[in-house]
Amino acid sequence: MNKLRLLTPGPTSVPAEALLEMARPVEHHRTPEFRAMFKQVTEDLQYVFQTANTVLTVTGSGTSAMESAIVGTCPPGSKALVVRGGKFGERWAEICAAFDIDHVACDVEWGHGAKPEMIEDCLSKDPSITTVIVTHSETSTAAVSDLEGIARVVRQRGDDILLIVDGITSVGAIPVRTDQWGVDVVVTGSQKALMLPPGLACLAVGDRAWKRVDSFSSRSFYLCPKAYRKSMADFDTPYTPNNVMIRGLAVTLKMIRDEGIENVWARTALLARATRAAAEAIGIKVYAADPSDSVSALCMPEGIDESKLRKTVRQRYGVHLAGGQGKLKGNVIRISHMGYVDALDTIGAISAIEMVLSEMGHDLKLGSGAAAAMTVIARRS
Ligand SMILES: Cc1ncc(COP(=O)(O)O)c(C=O)c1O
Repeated sequence: MNKLRLLTPGPTSVPAEALLEMARPVEHHRTPEFRAMFKQVTEDLQYVFQTANTVLTVTGSGTSAMESAIVGTCPPGSKALVVRGGKFGERWAEICAAFDIDHVACDVEWGHGAKPEMIEDCLSKDPSITTVIVTHSETSTAAVSDLEGIARVVRQRGDDILLIVDGITSVGAIPVRTDQWGVDVVVTGSQKALMLPPGLACLAVGDRAWKRVDSFSSRSFYLCPKAYRKSMADFDTPYTPNNVMIRGLAVTLKMIRDEGIENVWARTALLARATRAAAEAIGIKVYAADPSDSVSALCMPEGIDESKLRKTVRQRYGVHLAGGQGKLKGNVIRISHMGYVDALDTIGAISAIEMVLSEMGHDLKLGSGAAAAMTVIARRS
């Protein structure tokens, strides 16, 4: 028997408290009780997003919030700048293309994060850009962009340029200060740091973005932000929500509040540092030059079959890791530090990786990775 340790960067492990809440009988959602709960959930989401602005909850995966952000804030004929440094940056460009939104790419080398100077340069070259889209933590490469610096550059150009951020693997995992940094739209999905199954997506929408939303008619019915804002006035939803998951969300958000968002960020960062130290100790490279703290991508040593490694780790030790995506397929394994994951999950996963790597012929001293991780965790260094 093996205990499952789901350490993929989405879906992530769901705490028993949330699972039990979601196992209770389904209730109707057009009730005062639902609205009271949804009000609390929305306030807690504002805390997690660090915003006083509206946070909308949509029934759909993270991509539904991405699409809502685009159809809601980018009128036909407007031009967007899309940072592309991995699979999810590419997805934003694809969504723009699907809605005929003119867009230029700011291509970032895979494994690197976008820097403020790159955005400044692109905006200076093309003054017709009115929306900047950045993937904060690019899950496919495990690289992080300097969001605070990018927001500063965008805000210096005034209120007419919007900054849309994919926070799907950053919100609730690494520092995101939506209001303080001046970000206009931030999106996330339930199956990451919010510790739930896939199925809900959230968007924080600020005043500058609402002004844009109100300036034209969106081309989506289900994902038009206006409909969600209207219902939100009564803490209601325009269409039937996944109310069972919203109940689960009430539980996981309370867990985040009880821990404190800054402590959650610190725990996530500690586990990421421990993992990077372990990788170095066992002689495997961290892929990203600008590593995100919510997920790590570790390069496969010469001669090690990535899919065999993950399969054996899963079968023998119950640790479920992710492989690479796009051009990284077969070259990296990815391990999550977001959400319901703690020190022993991380040390356990590293130990499992070490044992299987050793068996597959990689030259390492068994326990050296776990020891390096333990040292970081024990010293909180
Ligand atoms: C950074 C990022 N953006 C977008 C997505 C897409 O979200 P979903 O698969 O929930 O639609 C993901 C999911 O892995 C992600 O990690």
